[in-house]
Amino acid sequence: MSERTTGARAALSMAGVYQRLQDVLGSRRFQRRLIREHVAPVAGTRMLDLGCGTGALIEHVPRDVAYHGFDPSERYIAAARQRWGDRGTFWCAGVGDPLPHGAGTFARATAIGVLHHLDDATAAQLAARAAEALTADGALVTYDPAITPATSRLARFVIERDRGMHVRRPDDYAALLAPRFAEVTVVAVAGHLRIPYTGCIITARRPR
Ligand SMILES: C[S@@+](CC[C@H](N)C(=O)[O-])C[C@H]1O[C@@H](n2cnc3c(N)ncnc32)[C@H](O)[C@@H]1O
Repeated sequence: MSERTTGARAALSMAGVYQRLQDVLGSRRFQRRLIREHVAPVAGTRMLDLGCGTGALIEHVPRDVAYHGFDPSERYIAAARQRWGDRGTFWCAGVGDPLPHGAGTFARATAIGVLHHLDDATAAQLAARAAEALTADGALVTYDPAITPATSRLARFVIERDRGMHVRRPDDYAALLAPRFAEVTVVAVAGHLRIPYTGCIITARRPR
C-alpha cells in the first residue's frame, strides 16, 4: 500500500476538499515560488506535470508555456479539465503507463508531492518516465515532505500523518532519481507552509 485513504483522509480524494486544504496550508504560495525559482519554464517550451492532481500548478505557469499533466485519479483529472481545460492538456494515467503516442518531448518535468506516495519501484518508474520525456538539456523538479535535521517533533507528527506512506530523507529521494539523471541537486526547506513542516526540492538534470 502506498497511500492512507481511510477515515478523514478519504475526503481528500474529493478534488474540492483537497484543493481547499492546499489553499489553507499555504501550498498555493509555495507552488508559485517553486515555479518561479526552481522550475523556471522558458517561454515557448513544453512542460510535463507527473501526478498533476487537480492541476493546481498550472495557475503559476506562464501562458506561453504548454502545460501537460497526468494523474491516475479520475476525479482529480475531471476537476483539472473542468477548471483548467483551456490552459493545458490532461490525461488519466500513472507513471507506470507509457506516455500517449506522439506526446513529444518536454523542457521541464515536475512531480510535486508525488514521490512520497510511491514505493521505491514506482518511484523508479517516475524517474524513468521523466528522463525519457525530457530533452537532453531538460530538468525534472520534485518537491516532497522530508525528514531533515530541521524537522521538529511537531513537524514529524504532522508529516507522519500524510496520506503518502513513503516520506523519506532528502538523500533517499535523490537516490531514487540518480540512476536516471547525471546531476541531482537537493534543497531542504522549512517554514514554507502555514503548519510545522519540512520538505525538500530536488532538481534533476542531464537525463540518461
Ligand atoms: C499530494 S498529491 C499532489 C498533486 C499535485 N501534484 C499537487 O501538487 O497538487 C499526490 C498525487 O500523486 C498521484 N499519484 C499517486 N500514485 C501515482 C502514480 N503511480 N503515478 C502518478 N501519480 C500518482 C495522486 O493521484 C495525487 O494526485
